Amino acid sequence: MSKPLPEYTGDIFSAESVRNARAVDDELRELAPVVRLTRENITMLARFEHVSEGLKDWRTFSSTSRPWHDPNSVRPELLLTDDPPKHSRVRAVVANALSPKALSRMAEAFKADADIIVNRLRDRPGQDIDAVTEITQAFIYKVLPDLLGVPLEGREHMTAFGNMVWATMGPENELFAAAMQDTGPVIEWATAACQRENLAEDSLGMEMFRAADRGEITAQEASLLVGIMLSAAADTTVITMANAIRAFSEFPEQYRMLRAEPSLIRAAFEESLRWDSPSRMAGRIAMRDVKIDGYVIPKGERCGLMFAAANRDPRKWQDPEKFDIRRNNAGHLGFGFGVHACVGRVLALLEADALLGAMVREVESFEPAGPAEPWMTTIGHGPVRVPVRIRFT
Ligand code: HEM
Repeated sequence: MSKPLPEYTGDIFSAESVRNARAVDDELRELAPVVRLTRENITMLARFEHVSEGLKDWRTFSSTSRPWHDPNSVRPELLLTDDPPKHSRVRAVVANALSPKALSRMAEAFKADADIIVNRLRDRPGQDIDAVTEITQAFIYKVLPDLLGVPLEGREHMTAFGNMVWATMGPENELFAAAMQDTGPVIEWATAACQRENLAEDSLGMEMFRAADRGEITAQEASLLVGIMLSAAADTTVITMANAIRAFSEFPEQYRMLRAEPSLIRAAFEESLRWDSPSRMAGRIAMRDVKIDGYVIPKGERCGLMFAAANRDPRKWQDPEKFDIRRNNAGHLGFGFGVHACVGRVLALLEADALLGAMVREVESFEPAGPAEPWMTTIGHGPVRVPVRIRFT
């Protein structure tokens, strides 16, 4: 006999819940190993053990139909919505283009852009700075479209594009409606930016079309992949580095430790990702009845696997609220896990080397200068504004 699924009747995606997403998700995780959201008709897993097991078992937790899945949405229907073998064929193309070898030539360009952004702040001594718009977003919104080969014109649409794509992964509530306002010019820009004729010759975007020429994917898939990279690689990385800066201001001893040992930069970046993950959850569909701790998730049920809550699960992490750059955070789920684990990890780490590296060299300390402002979106999570005061060396 299975136990009835514990139910949660609140709305974890309302504007108020989004403002308090960490507390809301933690509450859900502590309620029970499996919790059914009655408003949304989906079942959530939020404990580390179950989320990581679920992500690993793609045959049971398929990606082909996710909660709120709308095949006609503006979100590119590829990769994240496929299971092997279709998924493996397309992923191999992206993984090849994002390999350490393929990206190694970018390190110098990233470093040059990071130095410009960090040094520009020296002209503003004593002023409060928004670490998102003036540092991490300024950096990523420059290096990412440059890398993809997207034209300069129209890049101001990147924020709205990100809002729109993330909104399509969640419920159609008032935050969805806000993200979907006036999307005409944004969609027009994104569609054109991902076409072969508009991409720079020697670029990652064009690499997708070269793979199409070799018959590895279709030209249409190549264009979709450029759009996927333009969205998947933007806000996630902006937020992870903004959270790192927030953590440096809240845990100054950790920042001092990092300055003393800059080889820990990647560890600090990964810890930021564990500490406050930019992706709240990913959806899957149960392909069979799944038994967890005496509860049964029925076959056909749409499920949410909660990365951020699992990354703070006290059953797995000691003192999970502490940002600790020396913590062994191996296995954290900030980049996902299993066949869909983030294929852009190497790129994100190279970007972190450049930007966090420039800060560690030039900035003596960060101090909080006001509360962070949350991104009002349902599935993404993190700050859109992090006010800090910077003291240079
Ligand atoms: C800190 C930055 C990043 C974070 C936190 C992040 C997070 C994630 C997560 C959680 C997933 C798994 C989603 C799922 O299982 O449903 C994922 C997949 C993916 N990420 Fe990232 N990502 C980051 C950076 C990037 C970058 C730089 C790229 C570069 C193009 C990228 C491209 C992708 C793609 C294409 C997938 C789909 C992989 C697949 O379905 O096989 N991401 N990412």
